[in-house]
Amino acid sequence: MKSLDPYLIRKDFPILERKIGNLPLVYLDNAASSLKPIQVIDAVCRFYREHYSNVFRGVHELSREATEMYEEAREKVRKFIGARNASEVIFTYNATDSLNMVAFGWGFSNVEEGDRIVVTIMEHHSNLLPWRKLSEVRRAELSYIDIDDEGILKYDTLSEIIDEKTRIVTVTHMSNVLGTINRLEDIVKRAHEVNAIVVVDGAQSVPHMKVDVKELDIDFLAFSGHKMLAPTGIGVLWGKLDLLEEMEPYRLGGGAVKRMEYNSAVFREPPLKFEAGTPNIAGAIGLGAAIEYLTHIGMDNVREHEERLVEHTLKLFEEELVNNIELYGPKDPKVRGGIISFNLKDYSCHSVGVMLDLRGIAVRTGLHCANPLHRRLGVNGTVRASYYIYNTVEEIEYLVSCLKEFTKKRSATI
Ligand SMILES: Cc1ncc(COP(=O)(O)O)c(C=O)c1O
Repeated sequence: MKSLDPYLIRKDFPILERKIGNLPLVYLDNAASSLKPIQVIDAVCRFYREHYSNVFRGVHELSREATEMYEEAREKVRKFIGARNASEVIFTYNATDSLNMVAFGWGFSNVEEGDRIVVTIMEHHSNLLPWRKLSEVRRAELSYIDIDDEGILKYDTLSEIIDEKTRIVTVTHMSNVLGTINRLEDIVKRAHEVNAIVVVDGAQSVPHMKVDVKELDIDFLAFSGHKMLAPTGIGVLWGKLDLLEEMEPYRLGGGAVKRMEYNSAVFREPPLKFEAGTPNIAGAIGLGAAIEYLTHIGMDNVREHEERLVEHTLKLFEEELVNNIELYGPKDPKVRGGIISFNLKDYSCHSVGVMLDLRGIAVRTGLHCANPLHRRLGVNGTVRASYYIYNTVEEIEYLVSCLKEFTKKRSATI
């Protein structure tokens, strides 16, 4: 596709025909989860209707077909993130599951008392709680990289915080609140200087921009399918093969071992040693279809479209809402993704959310599972509008006109 046409894309999303009350749905809650195109819905239904069986378990035709489709999906993921080998792609249940897998797999075997784990102040709880637990159990230190007033990481503190004791540096590629796109290359360079590994939470970046694990030279990448057009319950953990080979599986059970004796077990090679139990086969096939859909559009086009929407929003906020809005995150659309968090003067974030809902607009309000970040910003919550491929300039103009209406009403009653 030469460039992204949101009006054409919208035709693929049946849910966009829905009304909220009698108003058209304006879905701006994509950072929480994306809507699904008919191509993904059909791929999942076709699997259940025509090919359904368990994988790796049987010699019969349906089992062979299901296994083939599941492995084809893995290959699509490999290509999408630029991985060298499909063995490096583990199907999990979501980004949270993937991050836990690294913390309790690699982390438990490699972090000792006195070591340091480095996180950032803008992490989602899913990329904080596993590391907090690991640091508690191993008596390791958990250190935070701070942000500046624009919500950009303080890169000048990297060499001090990421020191010789550091074993793991973990960072979100894109903040789910500020939209900030973090400069992974600076973090990777410093972490590798001290032999620390870099774990990237790609939950917000992989759906919205080109992410190539080879180019980034990171060590682990976690993301969820449901934020990138795929069904819920499917996620990915990618890791460098040598790290996966030495990593302990933290979920144990059927399908993960080559041999099992009374008192010993020999695990299979990655990725299967990490996929114990019946996996989300339909979810993986749906993720494969979602990747095909996004690849057809082109990830550079996705990024460009969202950058344009962000630029337009920031311009309208500045022109129409000036002193009535508090905006969080970088001012430059080039260093932020399609996520805009804000507060409206004299309103709680939740009242804004409810008033927008009455006008058919879906946004997220609250702490967005990022309490330390909100504490750092000094606020009890924010309103978050987040964009994707089907959002249009008209929807943003409608959002701004609603916000403007609220501020006028408020000043009339004060
Ligand atoms: C940055 C980030 N990391 C991790 C997660 C967790 O994703 P999931 O709930 O799909 O595991 C989210 C979800 O919003 C997120 O925004």
